Amino acid sequence: MSTIYDRIYAAAEPYWQTRSGEIHMPEVYALAQELLRRYPEADPTLVLPAILLHDIGYFGLPEATQMQGLSGSPQGWNAEITRIHEREGARRARLLLGDLGYDAEKIEQIAQIIDGHDSRTEALSLEDALVKDADKLWRFTASGVRISRRWVNQEPQPFMDYVEAKIDSWMLTAEGAAMARAILAATRGHYQQEGYDES
Ligand SMILES: [Fe+2]
Ligand SMILES: [Fe+2]
Repeated sequence: MSTIYDRIYAAAEPYWQTRSGEIHMPEVYALAQELLRRYPEADPTLVLPAILLHDIGYFGLPEATQMQGLSGSPQGWNAEITRIHEREGARRARLLLGDLGYDAEKIEQIAQIIDGHDSRTEALSLEDALVKDADKLWRFTASGVRISRRWVNQEPQPFMDYVEAKIDSWMLTAEGAAMARAILAATRGHYQQEGYDES
């Protein structure tokens, strides 16, 4: 039986076919589910739609422009691109969730989380913190390292050192930080394996 999250997933998926979103999104969705297991008091009806929809504002922006939405980007970071994908994502999320008949009050809270998921450094709520942490956690995974290190033109080892040094400032929850360390240790393990093929 399909759940409301399956329906949101299906409606969001067409917007993921850019910026490796088709890889990023299923993985951050799984990471958010793990964070929700560790914080059972958090509301999944906010976290899961917000995570599935957080980056849909990138869709339709030219690739080169999208890359400027990334701090550390070789093309130079343009904070306005970050804001555009947040605002556009929040706008599209309101429409998409409205079409699915989602609770209006929740739609507003989800849109607020999306509209600030990268630019707002502090969390508005535990749910907001879990969305931000799940999104960041991806950079510690094997595919997150493989893909996002190239976005910033770095070799795997310095990139892994860089994300490790950011754990305390990026992660907003204790479990998020613990997961970041564990996931990075596993990713480092892959890279240490003889014959590991990154591609
Ligand atoms: Fe984003
Ligand atoms: Fe993201």
